[in-house]
Amino acid sequence: MKAIVCHSYGSPSLLRIEDRPIPTPTGQQVLVKVRTTAVNDYDWSMVRGKPGLLKLMFGLRKPKNPVPGMEAAGVVEAVGPDVTRFQVGDAVYGDTSEYGFGTFAEYLCIHEDAMRPKPDAMSFAEAAATPHASLLAYQGLIKLGGLKKGDKILLNGAGGGVGTFAYQLTKSYGCDVTGVDSGPKLERLKKMGFDQVIDYRKVDFTRTIHSYDVVLDCKTNRWPWAYLRALKPGGIYVTVGGHLGKLLTLFLFGHILKLFSRKRLKVLGLQPNTELEVIGDLYRKGNLKAHIDGPYPFEETPGMIQRYGDGEHFGKIVLSVSPEGNPT
Ligand SMILES: NC(=O)c1ccc[n+]([C@@H]2O[C@H](COP(=O)([O-])OP(=O)(O)OC[C@H]3O[C@@H](n4cnc5c(N)ncnc54)[C@H](OP(=O)(O)O)[C@@H]3O)[C@@H](O)[C@H]2O)c1
Repeated sequence: MKAIVCHSYGSPSLLRIEDRPIPTPTGQQVLVKVRTTAVNDYDWSMVRGKPGLLKLMFGLRKPKNPVPGMEAAGVVEAVGPDVTRFQVGDAVYGDTSEYGFGTFAEYLCIHEDAMRPKPDAMSFAEAAATPHASLLAYQGLIKLGGLKKGDKILLNGAGGGVGTFAYQLTKSYGCDVTGVDSGPKLERLKKMGFDQVIDYRKVDFTRTIHSYDVVLDCKTNRWPWAYLRALKPGGIYVTVGGHLGKLLTLFLFGHILKLFSRKRLKVLGLQPNTELEVIGDLYRKGNLKAHIDGPYPFEETPGMIQRYGDGEHFGKIVLSVSPEGNPT
């Protein structure tokens, strides 16, 4: 099978397409013929080995599993002897990050719990784009943010994977939504229906408006007290990612804050795949869809990881892995 392989940390240009043996599933593993996969922050971090702390997860000197990728949609081709949830021929999708990486390949051998049945209402391209970002948005806004009808919301990093899903969730609650991003993405956010947009390169949202019920941040890069300025009394700031040092400070400060303020600062630890049934229902009802950048040919994977790192994408970058992977 063809796979994208990362032999050393550096840049996406060092990635190679290589032939590797098709794995045989054992125990509770399923072998999935990958139709589509998507680019995520983990891939950008893994190929560069940055931030260095993540090498504890990826491998200290070089990646332990040299095939990046942690989101996939495809069809089950074989099952291990202890698999109970899937059969050969089932269409599946999922975020594999709890069980390992390796979705940038024609076949993925992974624990069955990393996969969910793909709803018919979702194309393979949508299915690859959905598990990670939609649940960061859902868990951030609904579980940690306690989103309520009519809330005033700010989404920081609104034009990415999480932001474009989060927008749709907030609108289904009738919220007033401000999106923060930059460049041509701002026009696209306006076309999507954002009530206000802010260019982060020109305006610091923590210094202008002081009245959000919930802020969902994909790019934490300030100290915690700056975010407090943007919240109403009782408002909640939730971050899903950003600068590691700032995230750690925010986590610690968020606990102390409870002692003297009604405002809340929270850091989301994603629970992968947990509410994908809810997300599937929203698709079936026509209330949610993925904003897809692509699908691009599999061979273009290194360039697409660079595109992600350069922030040129809108929504989720999807790669078509198998020939029939320009799916609907
Ligand atoms: N919580 C968890 O358990 C967990 C697990 C895995 C990943 N994550 C994190 O979840 C996040 C995923 O976000 P995503 O997939 O939506 O990312 P994304 O697709 O890269 O979107 C981020 C958007 O933010 C914009 N941006 C960059 N710098 C910004 C700034 N300073 N202020 C405002 N916007 C800025 C980017 O555009 P430009 O670059 O063009 O400006 C881009 O449009 C990542 O931070 C990742 O590390 C969290």
